[in-house]
Amino acid sequence: MSEQSVDSEDKPVRAAVVTGGAQGIGRAVVAALLHEGYSVALIDQDEEAVVELVSRVPSSRLMAIVGDCADEAAVAELTAGAAHRFGGISVAVHNAGIAANGPLETLSLADWRRVIDVNLTGAFLLARAAAPWLRRNRGSIVNIASTRALMSEANTEAYSASKGGIVALTHALTVSLGPEVRANCVSPGWIETGAHQKRAAVRPVRHSEADRAQHPVGRVGTPEDIAHAVLFLADPTNGFVTGQNLVIDGGMTRKMIYAEEETQ
Ligand SMILES: NC(=O)c1ccc[n+]([C@@H]2O[C@H](COP(=O)([O-])OP(=O)(O)OC[C@H]3O[C@@H](n4cnc5c(N)ncnc54)[C@H](O)[C@@H]3O)[C@@H](O)[C@H]2O)c1
Repeated sequence: MSEQSVDSEDKPVRAAVVTGGAQGIGRAVVAALLHEGYSVALIDQDEEAVVELVSRVPSSRLMAIVGDCADEAAVAELTAGAAHRFGGISVAVHNAGIAANGPLETLSLADWRRVIDVNLTGAFLLARAAAPWLRRNRGSIVNIASTRALMSEANTEAYSASKGGIVALTHALTVSLGPEVRANCVSPGWIETGAHQKRAAVRPVRHSEADRAQHPVGRVGTPEDIAHAVLFLADPTNGFVTGQNLVIDGGMTRKMIYAEEETQ
């Protein structure tokens, strides 16, 4: 069989593991994968969000564990559990991410390390744990990076470095795990996740005309914009796409901005 995921000669496996899948972009990725017929195992450290999601989406194709994607044992539990329950893994999405923005001079080593641990080491742990299953199923890795891997605001050192690391880790994985496994990343721009949180954390969504105008497409992004890109990259039909960083930002990083001079 050429580009179809298989766990045995006659049994295609369509099963995904997703980190940070209970809220925000991850929640949309989980919903999109389930909609496309994948079985999905997610890990998220927010227990309340996990419980809410599982009660809202009662599917025998959904498995969720509460845990930290930077914890080696928790990631091993995720991949082993998914492989056991679904018969293998064909897609691994590292989506969980945190920031610790603030002046460089006061950024603690602990905060720096925590951001790198969750955002970058989490991607390594997931890829390593899922690799045997992905090889067997000719599967695919999709990591969520950020346009902040390519450009910065002030005081975002840890976050930007972690996302640049994801882009580089992804092309290294492409070469190491090919030809059996493809690896790509998605770099979202400004994605509004306020409505995609657990009930207690839902934030009202308000964007100014200036916010919208900053995007050539005329709007801020949605978690579904990213989920569609993840589906595209995960799909074995797109088996010639690997090693890419797909920027999904409504064109924001293509738009030059000059500070306007004040007119009297
Ligand atoms: N929203 C944006 O504008 C944007 C832009 C670029 C990149 N991204 C990236 O997209 C990804 C998702 O971002 P989001 O905006 O949806 O975030 P979010 O905060 O809305 O959701 C993140 C989810 O990950 C979970 N999580 C955080 N740390 C975890 C850990 N250590 N282990 C397990 N779960 C953990 C959280 O509990 C939460 O459910 C992140 O990697 C982020 O860096 C987001």
